Amino acid sequence: MQALLIIANPNPGSFAHAMAAAATAVLQRPGIDIVTHDLYAEGFNPVQPVGEFGNTRSDDPLIEAHCAHLAAADLILVFHPNWWSQPPAIMKGWIDRVVRLGTAYRYPEGVGAAGSPQGLLKARAALVFNTSNTPPEREAAIFGDPLEGIWKKSVFALCGVTRVERRMFGPIAASTPEQRRMWLDEVGRLTSDALAHAG
Ligand SMILES: Cc1cc2nc3c(=O)[nH]c(=O)nc-3n(C[C@H](O)[C@H](O)[C@H](O)COP(=O)(O)O)c2cc1C
Repeated sequence: MQALLIIANPNPGSFAHAMAAAATAVLQRPGIDIVTHDLYAEGFNPVQPVGEFGNTRSDDPLIEAHCAHLAAADLILVFHPNWWSQPPAIMKGWIDRVVRLGTAYRYPEGVGAAGSPQGLLKARAALVFNTSNTPPEREAAIFGDPLEGIWKKSVFALCGVTRVERRMFGPIAASTPEQRRMWLDEVGRLTSDALAHAG
């Protein structure tokens, strides 16, 4: 069983990193192979260069490694802050370049891109952990929580991942150590639950 963790936060002391550490602690069990990509730490290039048009292969070995890890994953865990109601650009570039045609989805034979995409991912479960500084009521009422649709519908459902749990913890800026401890416990519980549905 392979678990893939993607972290997109430029601050190693962020709550996103603390959540990734909490999930990793749960995943450290016999039989689980953990693959972690900290996108800022590894200098992931989110910009699709000229020549990658078509989105099915890359000259960048790091992109090919990411695609191989994504295809092999049984459980996918994503950690990033809410930036302007969207993923940080580096995370968006990961989606653009890694969650790609032929790796994560395909078009029906004989119909091509005019048809509806079909999911190719082996993973049956995904967890998305976000942080923000907006109270949840304001996020829902004013902004409509765009990250919910991006991850659940546009990315994971399209790619065939059927069980997607997402939490957005916050406001981080006003949180107490006790609250953060409870949130990290919830990350651990959700990670443990997801293991039962992965693969
Ligand atoms: C460029 C940028 C854009 C941001 N946009 C939002 C936003 O739209 N909504 C929000 O609630 N917080 C926003 N924030 C605040 C971050 O979400 C917050 O700093 C982060 O979630 C804190 O968690 P962390 O410790 O994991 O970094 C933004 C921060 C930055 C740097």
